[in-house]
Amino acid sequence: MRRPEVRPAGPAVSQAVELRRRYVEELRREGVTHREDVLRAFDAVPREEFVRDGFTTGDGRLVAPTDADFLDLVYRDAPLVTKLVDGVPVSSSSQPSLMAAMIEALDLRPGSRVLEIGVGTGYNAALMSAVGARVTSVDIQPDVVDRAVAALARIGLAGAVDVRLGDGYLGVPDAGPYDRVVVTVGLTGVSPHWLAQLVPDGCVLAPVAHAGSHPVLRVWRSRTGAVEGRAVLRAGFMSAAGPLAARHPWSHVAPRGGPLAPTTLRHPPVWRPPLDVFGYHDLWFAVGAWDRRAGFGAGPAGGWGGPGGCVLLDGAGTSWAGILADGSVQAAGPSAGGYAADALALRDRWVDEGRPRIDEWCVPLVATVDPETPILVPSGWQRRR
Ligand SMILES: C[S@@+](CC[C@H](N)C(=O)[O-])C[C@H]1O[C@@H](n2cnc3c(N)ncnc32)[C@H](O)[C@@H]1O
Repeated sequence: MRRPEVRPAGPAVSQAVELRRRYVEELRREGVTHREDVLRAFDAVPREEFVRDGFTTGDGRLVAPTDADFLDLVYRDAPLVTKLVDGVPVSSSSQPSLMAAMIEALDLRPGSRVLEIGVGTGYNAALMSAVGARVTSVDIQPDVVDRAVAALARIGLAGAVDVRLGDGYLGVPDAGPYDRVVVTVGLTGVSPHWLAQLVPDGCVLAPVAHAGSHPVLRVWRSRTGAVEGRAVLRAGFMSAAGPLAARHPWSHVAPRGGPLAPTTLRHPPVWRPPLDVFGYHDLWFAVGAWDRRAGFGAGPAGGWGGPGGCVLLDGAGTSWAGILADGSVQAAGPSAGGYAADALALRDRWVDEGRPRIDEWCVPLVATVDPETPILVPSGWQRRR
C-alpha cells in the first residue's frame, strides 16, 4: 500500500488537519464503523484535493476553493456534488458516513483486490487504498476520470489506484479477479460480469433501487450457482447511466416529478414519539418488499417537512397514500380510500411482524431477459430465517 503524501504544514494545511480531526471524531461518534484502520484512512486522505474545482452543497450553493468556509464544508458528513448536467447531479463525493459504512461492510484486508464502479472524485478509491486494498475503479465520464486521476496523483497515489474509463456494466476483466466489487452509484440490477470477475467466495456491494431509494445489498453466487442478496444499509445514490439503470418487470413504480395532489383523506398518528430515521427506513423498506407501488414522495405542495417519505403511488400519479413517521396516513386521488386502506394494512403488518429491520431481508436475484445487457434484479424479498 502506498500512503498519501504528507505535505509541509502551512496555515491551510494545519486548518485542514484540525477539521479532519473533528470530522473523524464525528464519524466515530456516529458509530458507522468500528474499524480503526478505516477511521485512520479518513484522517490520512485529504478530501479537499478531490474537490479542487469546487462543489455544490445540498442546499444548492456553489462552493469554490477560495471561499472562506471551503474546508469547513469539505469536512462535514455530507455529499459534495461535483458535476451537474441540466441541474441534475451526475457525479459527487458520496456522504462520508455512507462510505465508511460501506468500506466496513466490504471487510477489506491488506491486499484485498477491489473493483469500484463509479470513481467519481476518486476519494473513496483513495480511502480503500489507504486501508490496504488494491483498487481498480471505472467511471463512464471522461472528464470525471481525468479529474480523479489528477487528484490521486496530487496525493501520491498515481498508479496505486488503477482508474479506467468505461461503462462499469462490463467490469474490468483484465485487472481481476476481485475479492470485492463495490458500486458507488445507484442501480436497478447487478451486472453478471461482476460476478464472473469475482473470486469464488467474493461478493458485490451495490446500491440497488428499492421503493424510491437505493439501499445497499450484498450479493454473491451461492454453491448451487444461484445469485442471492441481502440488504445491508439504507442509502440514497444518484442513478447510473446505461444498462445498470434499466427498468425491469419487478421495478417499483416510476418516480414522479412534482408534488403529489393535495391530501383529501387523513388517518391519525399512532406513534408518539414518531419513529426515528432508522425505524422509519425499516418500515419503508418492508413496505417496498411487500408492495411494488411503494416509492418516494416529497408530499403534496408544501411538503410534509423534511425530505419526504414513503408513499404508495399509482402508475399515473393520480392516487397516492403516504405513511408518515408518526404512523399517520394521508391520501388523495380517485382511489384515495383504497390506497389509504392498503397503506394502513402495510403499516400494521410491519408492526405485527415485529418491526423487521432492513438487514433482516434477503432476496434471490434473477436475470432480466435483455439478450445484450441482462442485469440481475431482486425478485421476491423474504425475511431471513
Ligand atoms: C456518486 S459518484 C461516485 C462517488 C465516488 N466513488 C467518490 O468517491 O467520489 C457516481 C459516479 O458513477 C459514475 N457512473 C454512472 N454510471 C456509470 C456506469 N454505468 N459505469 C461507470 N460509472 C458510472 C458517474 O459518472 C459518477 O462519477
